[in-house]
Amino acid sequence: MNIIFLGPPGAGKGTQSKLLEARYGIAQISTGDMLRAEVAAGSPLGQKVKSIMASGQLVPDDLIIALIEARIDRPDCAKGFILDGFPRTRAQAEALDSMLKKTGRHIDLVLLLDVDEDALADRIAGRFTCAKCGEGYNDLYKRPKVAGTCDVCGGHDFIRRDDDRRETVAARLKAYREQTAPILPYYEEQGRLRRINGMADIDDVTKEVFAAVDSIT
Ligand code: AP5
Ligand code: ZN
Repeated sequence: MNIIFLGPPGAGKGTQSKLLEARYGIAQISTGDMLRAEVAAGSPLGQKVKSIMASGQLVPDDLIIALIEARIDRPDCAKGFILDGFPRTRAQAEALDSMLKKTGRHIDLVLLLDVDEDALADRIAGRFTCAKCGEGYNDLYKRPKVAGTCDVCGGHDFIRRDDDRRETVAARLKAYREQTAPILPYYEEQGRLRRINGMADIDDVTKEVFAAVDSIT
């Protein structure tokens, strides 16, 4: 089963795709996480994309398409995958379909998290992650049960993303509106798009996401 998660920055794609990965045992592939790992490692790709990401712009299509092409051929994708943050342009959507076709695969479902843009800046500004295990938290919506201690691993160090500053968030939303939202009709016309109310509580969004996936399995 191959699934795409679409939605603007802060819509909850990462949160929900991790839960899907845990439930269905299919690999979550976050292009944002992959790029941040390259930046952290100081690789040639990381050096190329660091300032682009920090400014909230999209990384060039050819770089991201090459990254995904190598990733979806790895053995952990044999049962399927969840794409979180890809595709983000029409060129990426078309490249994905043609690379899947080569190996006799296709996208089964495209989930769009529908959200009110006004809520996103607060969600993003409030986000932080455990430095040790990567568990995600939020100042407003999901704080650790014991302040300063990760619920999952007991770690005490937390990190915030460089591009989560309010001025960068505006650029990320603009990139979504201008470059990513126009690909929605591509999936809608193919009858693969399902809209999910991303404004509900995290647990209720998860219920709706699981129901959508269950309906095609
Ligand atoms: P990326 O890492 O993909 O970031 P993004 O799309 O901006 O998405 P986010 O990770 O900010 O949000 P999310 O929807 O995953 O929300 P989350 O679940 O964390 O991309 C970063 C950059 O990399 C891009 O700007 C670009 O430069 C580059 N890039 C990546 N992919 C690319 C591509 N394909 N092409 C070109 N460039 C690319 O939730 C956010 C917060 O809200 C969390 O704190 C969470 O706890 C909370 N929350 C979630 N759901 C709810 C809810 N229902 N109610 C209340 N709070 C909630
Ligand atoms: Zn942790």
